[in-house]
Amino acid sequence: MKKILIISNVIFVITTLVLGYILLFTGTEMIKADSEDNRITVKYAPDLRDLVMSEMRDYLEVINEVHQGMAENNPEMIVKAATRQGKAAIAETPARLLKLSPLACKQMGFAGHDLFQAIADSARVNYNPTTTSKQLAALTNNCVTCHKVYKVDYTN
Ligand code: HEC
Repeated sequence: MKKILIISNVIFVITTLVLGYILLFTGTEMIKADSEDNRITVKYAPDLRDLVMSEMRDYLEVINEVHQGMAENNPEMIVKAATRQGKAAIAETPARLLKLSPLACKQMGFAGHDLFQAIADSARVNYNPTTTSKQLAALTNNCVTCHKVYKVDYTN
């Protein structure tokens, strides 16, 4: 009788441990597997990161204004918006940012400004919605490509 009690207690303890292990650890492992993030981390000082992120949010605003300009058949609105992130924005890029950014990251950054400039230029010279639409597709493709490769973190 005593032996059976000991055995059943041992089985109980083992079952509890196994269930406890499954509950506590296997779920965590599943989350880890799901959030596999292979992006390269680029480290910026907080002020630099804030600058880059606010520029990113402005990219989105410019794209929105370009779309709005297309919807209203208003090339001037497109020119005005896209110029804001065109060639002039490259000139304003702090040297520190260029130093800390990997080469491919820099190239995609420049390519984006060139595409904004191209949108502004062609809307000014000879506005054609199909051309603007194609340029927007090339531009957003550049955004998507960079977002797949990089993420930003603060330096300590
Ligand atoms: C040179 C690479 C690169 C290009 C090009 C790029 N981005 Fe980003 N963007 C990033 C990185 C890196 C982050 C931060 C992502 C992270 O840390 O998870 C980011 C973040 C953002 C955010 C979030 C900003 C915030 O406040 O957190 C927005 C919005 C964004 N990008 C929009 C765009 C748009 C729109 C374009 C294209 C016109 C674009 N980005 C092009 C690299 C890029």
